[in-house]
Amino acid sequence: MDAAPHSVKRPSGLAERWFALRNRMLASARFQRLAAAFPPTRALARRRTRALFDLVAGFVYSQILLACVRLKVFDLLADGPQEVDALAARTGLSPDAMRRLLEAAATLDLTERRGPDRFGLGIHGAALRGAGGLAEMIEHHTLLYADLADPVALLADREKETALSRFWAYARDPRPGTLPDAQVGAYSQLMAATQAFVAHEVFSAVKLGRRRCLLDVGGGEGAFLAAAGARFPKLSLMLFDLPAVVGRAEARLAAAGLADRAAVFGGDFRTDALPPGADTISFVRVLHDHDDATVLALLKAARQALPPDGIVVVAEPMSDVPGGEPAGEAYFGFYLWAMKSGRPRPPEALYALLTAAGFARPRLQPTKNPILLQVVVAEVDGSSRI
Ligand SMILES: C[S@@+](CC[C@H](N)C(=O)[O-])C[C@H]1O[C@@H](n2cnc3c(N)ncnc32)[C@H](O)[C@@H]1O
Repeated sequence: MDAAPHSVKRPSGLAERWFALRNRMLASARFQRLAAAFPPTRALARRRTRALFDLVAGFVYSQILLACVRLKVFDLLADGPQEVDALAARTGLSPDAMRRLLEAAATLDLTERRGPDRFGLGIHGAALRGAGGLAEMIEHHTLLYADLADPVALLADREKETALSRFWAYARDPRPGTLPDAQVGAYSQLMAATQAFVAHEVFSAVKLGRRRCLLDVGGGEGAFLAAAGARFPKLSLMLFDLPAVVGRAEARLAAAGLADRAAVFGGDFRTDALPPGADTISFVRVLHDHDDATVLALLKAARQALPPDGIVVVAEPMSDVPGGEPAGEAYFGFYLWAMKSGRPRPPEALYALLTAAGFARPRLQPTKNPILLQVVVAEVDGSSRI
């Protein structure tokens, strides 16, 4: 497993004594009662109670969201508010059950009460409808939550097969190049469904208008490449992925009218060379799936395949995002642990791997939603402009 030393320094003895005192006070029932009653600290104490309660109850909130998605509540409310009885009839739930769900969902801003027994879309419910692929991800989480049912067992045994390691069949397979379509289809579809947001973020962060040819490594069904083709009409397109996956990509790229501009290559990037010819290589949601040794070898292969003015683009969720730490270390950290391969990396870890692979000037290109996706670029000879 990769070592991930952190740059935060060990606190001084004085600081450690302060942390110990603070934690003794916070653990004291008497201090908690006083803080809740004392007017200057009351608001803070309530916020802390709420934050702790949300941690305790998080799974319940997620399942309320799943129920709304499965029953298509947000779609049913898309054209305007509805009476509880009408929603119950359309979903097959009893009015009591539907009311309980809608009331719960309203407290989470998924729905909104719009009358005595009437509900409309809440701000999160509305946003969720516009976020392509989010409903599919929420449904997909049933696998992650099955693996997390016993989190200690999951942490203790990294060898045991999990629902997620079965779903992402390449993560554990010693010969992923031989995987059949039946084992790559579900994840390829899920990735394609969530690709629109990713492509938009990447193309806003990295201007590819003056690049000649893009090779998308681990490019899946070609949704990212198709978006690149539509956005940059002069760009030639190449895709490398497992043989069973590139068959799917070929079909999608042909359906998008890009067959003449796109070439697909099937292989195993852990053992096969990357095809030459591109001046830009992208790894979109690929490197975090793999341990450091594989990532380093892959980046060296990319360096080998690129010309002197080549660039590499790494786009994926990363850790250590200021203000978004739980998404990196907690969510993606546990997701990838359950998948049995890879880890979320802070940008600095990617810079180190890129530099070790021979790339110059690794740096972050700002994205609008860094909690969900960050983009790191690096150059072969250090003089490319993007
Ligand atoms: C998480 S998916 C990302 C797909 C796509 N880039 C996207 O963002 O939608 C990772 C991709 O890497 C591919 N992959 C994993 N291991 C591979 C290997 N050893 N050789 C080639 N492709 C591989 C998978 O088939 C999959 O399409």
